[in-house]
Amino acid sequence: MKKIAKLFGLIIILATIAFVVGFNLVGDLTNEENINPKKVINTANEDYTILVNKTNVLRSNYTPKNLVKLNIEFLSDTSNESRCMEKKAADSLEDLVATAKKENIILIGSSAYRSYKSQLRILKEETDKKGVDYADKYVAKPGQSEHQSGLAVDVTNRVRCFDKTSKEAQWLANNAYKFGFILRYPDGKEDITGYNYEPWHIRYVGKDIAKEIYMKNITLEEYLSYKS
Ligand code: DAL
Ligand code: ZN
Repeated sequence: MKKIAKLFGLIIILATIAFVVGFNLVGDLTNEENINPKKVINTANEDYTILVNKTNVLRSNYTPKNLVKLNIEFLSDTSNESRCMEKKAADSLEDLVATAKKENIILIGSSAYRSYKSQLRILKEETDKKGVDYADKYVAKPGQSEHQSGLAVDVTNRVRCFDKTSKEAQWLANNAYKFGFILRYPDGKEDITGYNYEPWHIRYVGKDIAKEIYMKNITLEEYLSYKS
């Protein structure tokens, strides 16, 4: 009988620990002040150089004004919300995808605009599936994702294997700037961007700035700090 009481006590203690740890990892993510106590960006919708990262964050109610549906092929599981992008960025992306196609490079959309709420859901899902360390390197916390600005998009290829050896990723790395996009999380710049290399994530900044960033092989963070 004593043994059963001890076992029961142990189960209660373990359940309490699991609840507290679980709450700290996921529960506090629903509180905007907990996630983003730092700098909140005051941004105009037409600011194409807006910096969104781990320390420059968007409010939960920030929505780009001129979101439009992208006229490109998407993965079948992409939501309607994520098929949208800011108008000027969307026009340029359509141009990019059409030009790539003429060169036999097939690019498929995987995720463009994401609301604060959707980013929170994705973060929770990825944290559950792959752990906190992985999520910290690859998934922005809500308010800290460029996808919420409507200016970023993830693309892939037919085989859904978009690493740097794929011809589609190489084409994108060499040509995105011509359409006003930059590779936002380049290889070797993890310390500056705060994220691991993502060959699939491109960000619209406009043609002149994209060209300068590409030619100088710098990040948006570096470009903005040189300019200020
Ligand atoms: N994968 C990028 C960092 C994002 O989640 O916005
Ligand atoms: Zn992305």
